[in-house]
Amino acid sequence: MRSVWITGASSGIGEALVKEFATKGWKVLAQARRRERLEALAAFAPEHIVPFVGDVRDYSACEAAAHHAIEKFGRLDAVIANAGISHRALVEEVSLAVLREVMEVNFWGAVHAIKAALPYVLQQRGWIVGVSSIAGFRGLPARSGYSASKFALNGFLESLRTELYETGVSVLIAAPGFTRSEIRQKALTAEGLPQGESPLPEERLMSAEAVASAIYSAMMKRRKYLILTSQGRWTVRLNKIAPGWMDRIVYAYFLRENSSPLKREKDPS
Ligand SMILES: NC(=O)c1ccc[n+]([C@@H]2O[C@H](COP(=O)([O-])OP(=O)(O)OC[C@H]3O[C@@H](n4cnc5c(N)ncnc54)[C@H](OP(=O)(O)O)[C@@H]3O)[C@@H](O)[C@H]2O)c1
Repeated sequence: MRSVWITGASSGIGEALVKEFATKGWKVLAQARRRERLEALAAFAPEHIVPFVGDVRDYSACEAAAHHAIEKFGRLDAVIANAGISHRALVEEVSLAVLREVMEVNFWGAVHAIKAALPYVLQQRGWIVGVSSIAGFRGLPARSGYSASKFALNGFLESLRTELYETGVSVLIAAPGFTRSEIRQKALTAEGLPQGESPLPEERLMSAEAVASAIYSAMMKRRKYLILTSQGRWTVRLNKIAPGWMDRIVYAYFLRENSSPLKREKDPS
């Protein structure tokens, strides 16, 4: 039976991915830091889901997770580096600690999981998946650290995909658009505190379940890229053709957000 290790499994897209793979008959190692969330998730399919508490910023925790998957399942076919955090503050206001923290989780956390899983995935000619973002193809205002972490992740994955050209391992860069999850409530302010409320109408966003199902299907087709939502696809496409013009469009879009940090540009008082 195939097995997959999914990071950031305690909520949002990661939780939905765990359920998607378990429902499809895979064994799943579900990793995150919140133990009680993982245990509740494992109850969804106890025969298939093994919870693993660990922080992706810690490489030894990722090595332990990969070993645990091998101990429990005897093989590891795929890793999905999904754990991630966001922030919302202008570059001139945000503390360096916040930018570093976002990079630690989103970039280094993904690198840790992928490097720890790679020897086993190679044996199975399996899958490496990085959950990136539209923000990894188009820099977003007040999310400079988040965009930087996803651009870095995309570069890492493209290099890895080329290194693995003749190995039979597939590398998928999955870029969801705006998706209903906890990420915006937990996004860090300039000082590094959770902002608490989402500035977007969460109920109108794509569901985490739909994202998980699209990722599963892209993996089965051994695709290299998955860019989600029509807004996301247009953003990526237009930014290639007319990046300067897109500055204006993206600026205007994010200016309209609830309590947009860009508003202070208009109202210096
Ligand atoms: N939602 C969107 O609009 C959207 C759009 C594009 C891309 N994405 C990407 O999708 C991925 C999942 O995000 P989401 O939207 O589902 O957000 P979410 O609901 O906040 O889930 C984030 C997950 O990451 C885990 N995590 C955070 N820091 C961690 C750490 N240091 N070690 C281990 N796990 C950690 C969290 O679990 P614990 O706190 O329990 O550790 C949680 O399970 C992220 O990479 C995000 O950038 C999201």
